This record gives sequence, structure tokens and C-alpha cells, in this order.
Amino acid sequence: MQITVTVNGREYVREVEPRLLLVHFLRDHLELTGTHWGCDTSNCGVCVVHLDGVPVKSCTVLAVMADGQDIRTVEGLSWGAELDPVQRGFIECHGLQCGFCTSGMMMTARWLLDTNPDPSEQDIREALAGQLCRCTGYENIVKAVRWAAES
Ligand code: FES
Ligand code: FES
Repeated sequence: MQITVTVNGREYVREVEPRLLLVHFLRDHLELTGTHWGCDTSNCGVCVVHLDGVPVKSCTVLAVMADGQDIRTVEGLSWGAELDPVQRGFIECHGLQCGFCTSGMMMTARWLLDTNPDPSEQDIREALAGQLCRCTGYENIVKAVRWAAES
């Protein structure tokens, strides 16, 4: 099937198999490998992207379901050389170790701040509940999102 999607402001027209998952479309067809693939159970959240402004686990969405829609991935978080405050917060507050979970964390955090610019610690923890980090205790991740909210 042919699909047309806009990813990080650029339009792509591609032939895809109907069974292709959005995460694989982004990684393997568009080479946007910042979106990670970490489980086969829709649990880890490393694959989160924005689909028409809403965070989705891209391993639960077929590429054909994204036809005609606007997608934002972690590659579209910064503006040229200027990092998004969420990215700066993760740097300032040491919100990552191996970094595998980080792109999904940041995409969900960006959505949270877009919809709730002054989230409480509880709001942040609830928003990130679908994101698993195997390295940390989430303390610095929460601080990073608060840092972004205050910057
Ligand atoms: S790859 Fe784990 S939730 Fe999508
Ligand atoms: S920083 Fe390693 S999984 Fe989160």
C-alpha cells in the first residue's frame, strides 16, 4: 500500500506492507533510528512518537494507520542546533545512563509540557508511567522534566 506521512515537517511517500509497524517504518524505511524498539509486548515505551500531537507507542501502530498524519520523532525535538528544553534538562540533571529509554522519555515529557506546562512531580511520574528505564530510579528523569518546565 502507498502511504503519505509528514515526519518532522518533511513529507514522505512510501510503499509499505500492510503489516508493517510504524516503529519499523521509521527506523528501517526512513532511517530515523532515534525511535527505539525495546520489547515485543508494548510495555517499555522506548518507541514513543507523536502522532498528530499525541504520544503513541509506535510498536502498537501500523504504518498504514499513520497515512495522512503528522509524526514527530525525537529527531524533530530540536530546532537545528537548538535543543529542546527537555533535552537540555536531561543533560543538566543527568537524566540518562545508557540512554536507550531516553528518546521515548523525552517525547512523552515534551507532550506533557505541551499540555501541562507546570506539572507536579506526581503529574510527571504518571505521564512517564508507560516508560521503563532499566538503568535509573527515575529521580533524575523527573528532575529533568521539572528543569525543562522551569527553564
Ligand atoms: S518497543 Fe516496547 S513499547 Fe514499543
Ligand atoms: S538510561 Fe538506560 S534504560 Fe534508561
